[in-house]
Amino acid sequence: MVKIGIIGTGGMGRYHANILKKMNDVKIVSACDVNIDSLNSFKNEFGIEEIYTDFKELLKKSDVDAIICATPTHLHYEIVVKAAKSKKHIFCEKPIAINLRQAEKMIEECEKNNVIFQIGYVRRFDEEWLKFKELMDKKIIGRPVIWQQIWGGSGPSSDWFYDIKKGMGPFVDGAVHSYDFAIYTFGKVKKVKSSLLKFKKFTSPDTGVVSVEFEGGDILVLCWSWGLPKNVSSQYLHQALGPEGVLIFAGYQDEKEKYFVVRKEKGEEKIGPIPLNSLVIGFEKQMSHFIECIKDNKKPIVSGIDGYESLKVAFQVIKNWFTRSDLV
Ligand SMILES: NC(=O)c1ccc[n+]([C@@H]2O[C@H](COP(=O)([O-])OP(=O)(O)OC[C@H]3O[C@@H](n4cnc5c(N)ncnc54)[C@H](O)[C@@H]3O)[C@@H](O)[C@H]2O)c1
Repeated sequence: MVKIGIIGTGGMGRYHANILKKMNDVKIVSACDVNIDSLNSFKNEFGIEEIYTDFKELLKKSDVDAIICATPTHLHYEIVVKAAKSKKHIFCEKPIAINLRQAEKMIEECEKNNVIFQIGYVRRFDEEWLKFKELMDKKIIGRPVIWQQIWGGSGPSSDWFYDIKKGMGPFVDGAVHSYDFAIYTFGKVKKVKSSLLKFKKFTSPDTGVVSVEFEGGDILVLCWSWGLPKNVSSQYLHQALGPEGVLIFAGYQDEKEKYFVVRKEKGEEKIGPIPLNSLVIGFEKQMSHFIECIKDNKKPIVSGIDGYESLKVAFQVIKNWFTRSDLV
């Protein structure tokens, strides 16, 4: 039986708990949150025996093998370092931390204490994005490519996401998924450029254009916003352009499945099917992988180093906008 403690019982803490409660041979033993209402409702919903308002108490008193760190990002550092020192395995939500020195120390401490440290890059378990990597490896539209993600919405509702000292806005918090997957797919980063704006009243940029160029010539382009009014969102454009054609994410879909559509000179091709909810399934696979790594004493496929490398890109993206000396 793998015994788990959940630190942070907000959106992601609950999401992971719902997955864990369905798994065999896993038990959520304890939970921690500074918000008593959230903690109590979590206790009732998941039938948790032990609750704490201080994560240090959970680490000290609760007999758990592993923790899920699902607090706002600026708190990941202290929780992960202390959990590693207490010899707990760690699943930590992304982004890994709010500066690179913290990320380095977290990796170091987990290695020193021989605990598993997995970062929540769920796209690494999403069949759709994995298929994209496979198609890129096969050069389905030739290489190099431009991978375009164009989207705007009103963003998460909690203010901490937009605070430069806590969540750091969409070009860190949200886009790290894309930076990580692009590194996984395209390799070493060569150059990062960005033009960022702020529509909302907070301290992080919430809108902008980013390009990440890779040594092989591929480019990731994001044109994103979390700055639109409540309940307003733009159209979503997700595709890759290459010398031999275009690959469109979910270019065709029905009620259950989605397909990539590849357009080339000689015509159009559907590639799939992929379940419509591949991301939801990815979250389940991600957590199964974490538990499997604990049971079999294996290294996770998404490590602290991956958290560090993608955060490095994120800080190159926002560095021209902010002069926070502790970014690097
Ligand atoms: N993988 C993904 O797709 C994904 C999606 C959303 C958020 N996230 C990440 O997950 C993390 C949590 O995000 P969220 O959406 O659940 O945020 P949230 O605001 O919904 O929940 C955070 C919870 O942490 C609690 N908390 C605050 N300080 C604490 C402390 N000192 N000790 C214990 N608990 C504390 C808050 O009270 C809250 O209940 C963030 O790092 C975020 O970037 C990942």
